[in-house]
Amino acid sequence: MRSLLKWASTALLASQAVGIDVNVDDQDSIKSATSIIAKNMMNYYTGYQPGDTPGNLPDPYYWWEAGAMFMNLVEYWFYTGDTTYNEKTTQAISHQAGPKGGESFVPSNQSKTEGNDDQIFWAFAAMQAAEYNYPAPTENAPSWAAMAQSVFNGQASRWDDNCGGGLRWQMFGWNNGYNYKNIAANGGFFLLTSQLARYTRNHTFIEWAEKEWNWFSGSVLFEKDSFQVNDGTDIGKDCSVANDQQWSYNYGFYVAGLAYLYNQTEDAKWMPPLKGLVDRTFKEFFATRQIIVETACEPIGNCDTNGFTFKGYTMRWLAVTAQLVPELADQIWPYIKASGTAAGGQCSGGDDGSTCGMKWTQTTWDGSKGVGQQMSALSAIGSNMLRIADLKPPYTRDTGGKSEGDPNAGTDAGTPDDRPAVYTDPVTGGDKAGAGILTALVLAFTLGGSYWMVVG
Ligand SMILES: *[C@@H]1O[C@H](CO)[C@@H](O)[C@H](O)[C@H]1NC(C)=O
Ligand SMILES: *[C@@H]1O[C@H](CO)[C@@H](O)[C@H](O)[C@H]1NC(C)=O
Ligand SMILES: *[C@@H]1O[C@H](CO)[C@@H](O)[C@H](O)[C@H]1NC(C)=O
Repeated sequence: MRSLLKWASTALLASQAVGIDVNVDDQDSIKSATSIIAKNMMNYYTGYQPGDTPGNLPDPYYWWEAGAMFMNLVEYWFYTGDTTYNEKTTQAISHQAGPKGGESFVPSNQSKTEGNDDQIFWAFAAMQAAEYNYPAPTENAPSWAAMAQSVFNGQASRWDDNCGGGLRWQMFGWNNGYNYKNIAANGGFFLLTSQLARYTRNHTFIEWAEKEWNWFSGSVLFEKDSFQVNDGTDIGKDCSVANDQQWSYNYGFYVAGLAYLYNQTEDAKWMPPLKGLVDRTFKEFFATRQIIVETACEPIGNCDTNGFTFKGYTMRWLAVTAQLVPELADQIWPYIKASGTAAGGQCSGGDDGSTCGMKWTQTTWDGSKGVGQQMSALSAIGSNMLRIADLKPPYTRDTGGKSEGDPNAGTDAGTPDDRPAVYTDPVTGGDKAGAGILTALVLAFTLGGSYWMVVG
């Protein structure tokens, strides 16, 4: 059936290229498929050009998504050994991190929109660079591990006592969503902290990961009996009601964070929540032939720019979980295989005949395209390298990780509130972040409605 469709579309497209037919059990096939997908993804990137800003994607892609894209490129390099995008990746992450001493990834250009969750994706890019011995950053930048530690230090200093703890979604009080405590901020902090715990073997990170877990698992964000992860909750309502929107990456943060923590501590208490969350993730998002579906938006076709990206992270985080917790590998790998294969089947659109769409459960292109679709397919297919190739698990300082951290990174410049005047620019009506829309959405939630949550 599939080859017939392919034949038909090839015939229709005449001289155009055929879609991506990937065999995810074959390393060469994965390498050639992901190289096509990465190339198409990087066609969107202009930040390296003279007059542009390294690390920025053009509209409508938010700053955080660029961080996620470079995180994916670090993974891509590790999975395939292809160095084509290394120079751009190193330049982008180093530039956005900013100089040594200050908190990394808090560029003044982004202060009108930046949330803790936005910062964390850039920190993940740096952390993975450390974990994979990715070539060093540019000369004036902090080391990869120091960047990640400085984000940890910054976020730990923003830990907030309202509702018994946790991080707010937003970093700055003038941004909308400051009263929202959500998973992208808290799950992100949990995962980064667990990665640092394992990379550095410094016990402080284990204590912080535990603190975050205790807050999260005792809050309305987590429904213990069903392992349901809810998107966020409003401080204005004493965090008594949850917005129960279901996003796959919200599960992914905690699944991977628990996997790192368990791998590092070997403490059996982390296994029941890890197993429960993995089961729930599969039940919630992989119900169709073990192929991941972003259920909150994909079936009805209204994913926004952010929503196109989420399931890619989930794929990666499940795959790394299979590696770090071998007893879960047999359960996880079939889903990685099925979803990776299916993602390739969606990459048959556009003028090049290999543009990726979102609906991996169907083998004809769904007509959508963008950085998020490319990035998710890249991750889904690439993650299979962890399954079939003999790739090392993330390094630690003890097993060969070369990036030397700095426990005090980011603590020189104080909290963002003490920063120079540029950080206190009022938000003006014309800002592109769509902050007004976010407020309306958060209000809708507060009033008991349901809405589409986006990462700002
Ligand atoms: C901030 O914006 C200016 C002006 O566009 C640019 O030159 C600079 O590189 C940007 N900095 C960062 C970290 O994005
Ligand atoms: C941690 O991960 C490594 C690498 O996959 C694995 O060999 C080891 O068994 C894991 N440790 C635990 C406690 O699962
Ligand atoms: C462990 O990490 C914490 C938090 O970054 C830091 O304050 C402390 O100095 C570190 N300890 C060592 C021994 O590096």
